[in-house]
Amino acid sequence: MAESPPLSRRDFLSTGAKLGAVIAAAPYVTRGAEVGAAAKADTVNVALIGCGEEGRILANAALNIPGVRFQAVCDIWPYNLTRTERLLKKFNHAAQPFEDYQEMLATVKDLDAVIVATPDFMHHVHTNAALKLGKHVYCEKLMSNTVEGARSMVVAAREAKKLLQIGHQRRSNPRYQHARDKIVREGRLLGRITNITGQWHRAVTEDFGFPNGQGIPEAKLNKYGYANMHEFRNWRWFKKYAGGPVSDLGAHQIDIYNWMLDANPRMCIASGGVDYYKSHEWYDNAFIIYEYATKDGVVRAQYQVLTTTSAGGGYSEYFMGDEGALKISENPKFTKLYREARAPEWEPFVAKGFIAKPDTGEGAPAPVKPWEKPGVKKLGGPSKAATVDVRETAQLSAWDIPVTLDKAIHQPHLENFFDAVRKGTPLNCPGEQAFASAVTVLKVNEAIAAQKMLTFSPSDFVV
Ligand SMILES: NC(=O)c1ccc[n+]([C@@H]2O[C@H](COP(=O)([O-])OP(=O)(O)OC[C@H]3O[C@@H](n4cnc5c(N)ncnc54)[C@H](O)[C@@H]3O)[C@@H](O)[C@H]2O)c1
Repeated sequence: MAESPPLSRRDFLSTGAKLGAVIAAAPYVTRGAEVGAAAKADTVNVALIGCGEEGRILANAALNIPGVRFQAVCDIWPYNLTRTERLLKKFNHAAQPFEDYQEMLATVKDLDAVIVATPDFMHHVHTNAALKLGKHVYCEKLMSNTVEGARSMVVAAREAKKLLQIGHQRRSNPRYQHARDKIVREGRLLGRITNITGQWHRAVTEDFGFPNGQGIPEAKLNKYGYANMHEFRNWRWFKKYAGGPVSDLGAHQIDIYNWMLDANPRMCIASGGVDYYKSHEWYDNAFIIYEYATKDGVVRAQYQVLTTTSAGGGYSEYFMGDEGALKISENPKFTKLYREARAPEWEPFVAKGFIAKPDTGEGAPAPVKPWEKPGVKKLGGPSKAATVDVRETAQLSAWDIPVTLDKAIHQPHLENFFDAVRKGTPLNCPGEQAFASAVTVLKVNEAIAAQKMLTFSPSDFVV
């Protein structure tokens, strides 16, 4: 076999998508250490389009990654643009500010990659423009508020032969990776997964406003596609710009359903409505059921995103099998594993580092009562009126996942992207897979409007 010529750094950056070796994530360094270090040979020059809440979270996380240099920032709102420019300057990144992304892409010549964190309806516009000019792109979820927008991004990445990572960051969270790879797949500790539930409930909140004197003139807002300042600030709730809470919050977790099962659903049924807010267009409550046909059998998956109080229980995904159950969340305090008494012993998996000893502290299930021991059939129980067979309940022990994330939650996903750009590490959420998740998520709003069950065909998920 003929030997390939050695790649220069720039060749490597431009051909990253083609290379496949798995390389360990970059070591965690503090921001101070990174700033103090001299420019590295494998510097990646980056621009950020969209400097709002998430743009700044991503910038903060990326500042922890060695070799990432912000060369430019772009935002139509001077208020957010200046805040982000100042943040980066504090860490010695002299990023040039731009209002117009096209001017930025035309002016800053040496960019390797672009991070897109604008409202969903602009994702395909900003992503495709950057890809066409030969930049790798990390774009926030939901990939787009339309299937066509999402599809165009996959096509643009393919045509440009550049990387496209979508910001479903749980896929790079080591706790989620451990849960999927070791607990669910290799160890099969849940047995056969039969059902999933998940939720992201939020307390009622005020609409976003803006600081005095920081409004954008209406003519400028209209030029960029926004009707007024209210819609510009609360774009998530309006049909033109986004997909509502199902796509804003549900996208993260529904993506994880597909990722954990390695499957896409075959049907979706949903109920929801604009039940609470008066000044929003999108459904503020949604109850959803998907059905998956997996190689182990049918899995029914339910998801809810509700407007309620802070007592709604937050956000988590719950994978239920016939031998165990896994509750997992980006918030570690909602993460736990439960073993059914009849399941094969889990002790060997402690030694292998898959799971940690049962939790006997606060929050652990109550000890099993003698009459609830496996094999003891007690009809009637402590109360004469009760006639349930109690063997199927209260026999669970609670176990932990011995993997924690010691970084900002978006950092591993950005590290994975920059490792792909530099070294060819496979992306954890390439455009093709995020497209399948976008199709899965966007169907919910259709199903709510149609008030009937909608089906998917396998070709719906393929570009
Ligand atoms: N991965 C996550 O956990 C996560 C969390 C929050 C938000 N997000 C995603 O990040 C994206 C941004 O969300 P956000 O909460 O930061 O919203 P935001 O409203 O706070 O910020 C959006 C920014 O984009 C700017 N903008 C709008 N149109 C623009 C244009 N045409 N050109 C340049 N800039 C423009 C706005 O001025 C604003 O600064 C969304 O896609 C959202 O779904 C992801």
